[in-house]
Amino acid sequence: MLPVCTPLSPQVYPGGFRRCKPTGGSVYPKDRRWISNPSLKRKFVTVQGEFYKIIDVVWRKTCFLPCLWQMLDTVNSDIKASMFEYYNERAKEYEELYTLGKGPASIPDPEAYKREVNILAGIAGEFCYGSVIDIACGTGFWLPYYVRQCSQVTLIDQSAKMLSVCKEKVSSLEVQDKCNLVCDDFLAHQFNVANFDCALMGFFISHLSQKEEQEFFEKLKSILKPSGKFLIFDSTWNEERARTREKQGKHQRKLNNGRAFDIYKRYFEKDDIIRMGKQYRLTLSLGHVGRIFIAATGKLK
Ligand SMILES: C[S@@+](CC[C@H](N)C(=O)[O-])C[C@H]1O[C@@H](n2cnc3c(N)ncnc32)[C@H](O)[C@@H]1O
Repeated sequence: MLPVCTPLSPQVYPGGFRRCKPTGGSVYPKDRRWISNPSLKRKFVTVQGEFYKIIDVVWRKTCFLPCLWQMLDTVNSDIKASMFEYYNERAKEYEELYTLGKGPASIPDPEAYKREVNILAGIAGEFCYGSVIDIACGTGFWLPYYVRQCSQVTLIDQSAKMLSVCKEKVSSLEVQDKCNLVCDDFLAHQFNVANFDCALMGFFISHLSQKEEQEFFEKLKSILKPSGKFLIFDSTWNEERARTREKQGKHQRKLNNGRAFDIYKRYFEKDDIIRMGKQYRLTLSLGHVGRIFIAATGKLK
């Protein structure tokens, strides 16, 4: 809840300090008749003024800045809507990034994309097992590489068009009996079954703000078995990338037809993965740090 700020009467509160408190109801003594001595009263008012000054500073540091941060963070919801639409509209051309190094590729070397896609495909094939959830699965690009050794696969994405491409892939692989496609925002979705052996997050965390990242890892912990494992694929941050991109923030992306969208994107380097491990108490290991992609495997501590 946003703190309530009310102007103070200058007679009672010298300097006209503002009283800021997180909820309604006064925290100040209402009955001051016990101060009959004028000099004592002056001292009391001065000390009281200093006290409110301190409260004001503490409030600014503890409430104001986090509130401001949260307000800035909600700006993301506009970008989020645009990003959701972008991925929906990009569904048909999405895999060109992997197969042709085309689209929003910021490193102009298609062969490098293809090489690293092979590396990630190998990691997905070795890592995913049992009951898997592919979070923000998109077109299910990694599915053919891991589905054979899995007993069940839940593929969740907010985009209906991405899921429709994914459904075609499920059919062509003839794995409909073990795949369950869910169209929803992962962060908002209520899971009936929450005991996955393994989770794959391909290029998803990079689209979350820091606040959402925290929500995400809390949710991940709640849907994985205690022995559960997870695999993160994402985009590497390096000097080459820095020539055309900001490390994090609002980015513009264009479809093949030139239509532009704002999206939120972060790029990760080794230290970011280490930070996530510490912050969310996870055991994380780097599997691949390439020119284009980064892969990390993890388990709950
Ligand atoms: C960069 S694509 C990655 C697709 C796939 N995981 C891959 O590795 O190719 C990002 C995907 O995340 C989906 N997405 C973004 N935010 C989401 C959310 N909160 N819940 C579900 N899906 C989301 C988008 O619709 C898009 O399909």
